[in-house]
Amino acid sequence: MTMDCRHAEFTLDPATPDVHADNERLRELGPLVPVEIDGVRAWAATRHATLAAVLAHPDLSRDVRHWAPEGRAAVSMATAVGKITSDTSMLNSEGEAHRRLRTPLIRAFTARRVQELRPRVAEMAADVVDALAKLPSGPVDLRQHFAYPLPRDVISELMGIPEGMREQLHELTDVAARVGDGPDDVSGHRAALYELLDEVIEVRRGTPGEDLITDLIEVREQDGERLSRSELLDTIELLFIAGHVTTVNLLTNAARAMLTRPDQLALVLSGERPWSAVVEETLRWDSPVAHFPMRYAVRDLEIDGIRLRKGEAVVACFASAGRDPDRYGERAGRFDVAAPQPGHLSFGHGTHFCLGAPLARLEGEVALAALFEAYPRMVLAGPDSGTRPLGTVLGNSTRSLPVLLGE
Ligand code: HEM
Repeated sequence: MTMDCRHAEFTLDPATPDVHADNERLRELGPLVPVEIDGVRAWAATRHATLAAVLAHPDLSRDVRHWAPEGRAAVSMATAVGKITSDTSMLNSEGEAHRRLRTPLIRAFTARRVQELRPRVAEMAADVVDALAKLPSGPVDLRQHFAYPLPRDVISELMGIPEGMREQLHELTDVAARVGDGPDDVSGHRAALYELLDEVIEVRRGTPGEDLITDLIEVREQDGERLSRSELLDTIELLFIAGHVTTVNLLTNAARAMLTRPDQLALVLSGERPWSAVVEETLRWDSPVAHFPMRYAVRDLEIDGIRLRKGEAVVACFASAGRDPDRYGERAGRFDVAAPQPGHLSFGHGTHFCLGAPLARLEGEVALAALFEAYPRMVLAGPDSGTRPLGTVLGNSTRSLPVLLGE
């Protein structure tokens, strides 16, 4: 079939009050739907099978140089769903360029290496949960005080960021990750971020540690051709951005799912179902990433009988694919930790599959167990608690999650 993505059938609106209702309407329009995002046209891949095919397609590239955007300039799109990190980062490159950036990190993120971190992550989760009791009495925002600090502390330690630099670094990466706020905002902060990262690299070069930045510096210095200075900076930035807000959303969404479903929480607290099932079901049913990232057609091609033209863009709709009835049957729209889990695409698929997936899974299991074991009587602070969407096209979560701890 020949359709044209210049005539949008749907607008992905960052200000939508309900990301999932929008995604359901979008999915009903078809597997590949012409959409508009921030004034830019693209195809939205809405169904599980189609999205898997898109993510693994050899002629759909993450390299933005293949994009020939129609309509308004590409810049705003870059901040909306295309480019949260530099054009040359691992996430935005393909082929040999992608391989040489990804290879030095693979070993650090294997499931086995990450499992070795379990005791330390458990200690950090216990600290975060203990700190909740020290907050002033009254409602506690779990997003701010539980979901936010843990992934920040874990990634900072893993990377070897000196204590005194962590706060400033996180302020800067938070801004860079707040996509959709406008390109100038992001690029201004990126310069400051790179300056700080240069300082971090100097500290680690002077005092090497058992950490990722030390490893990456060694890769660069042993074989100077392999990682340039800007590649090193891009990689560190990518790990911070990709590894933080996504995991904050996962922890927030999982806690909210449990707090609104006491029967499901009881299944886990009684030991009938593991916390890992909560993590997987949350990833599927309430994907931390709603729509991201773009792929660009390297040549004319056909997917699900629809012709895409060279230079057109495709956006991955993870929130929609996770509730696709063709994949998940009648329980597609229901959160159910006891149902079989045939697998989801929320960590991507193919060569760009999320490098940090084992770490995010570990953080999810450990942190949720620590939280709900410490506060089994915790309740939402009110009926509206956790119902304010983030307001970005990329992320899917709530801006806050006020609870009463109920010690
Ligand atoms: C890539 C999701 C946590 C590092 C991706 C992709 C997705 C994703 C969907 C694929 C993008 C694509 O296909 O173009 C998530 C979610 C997370 C999470 C939902 C948490 C729940 C993390 C963590 C880290 C991380 C904790 C690192 C510490 C990366 C990196 C890539 C990536 C480096 C790029 C891989 C490549 O391009 O080869 N992530 N991520 N992510 N993620 Fe994650």
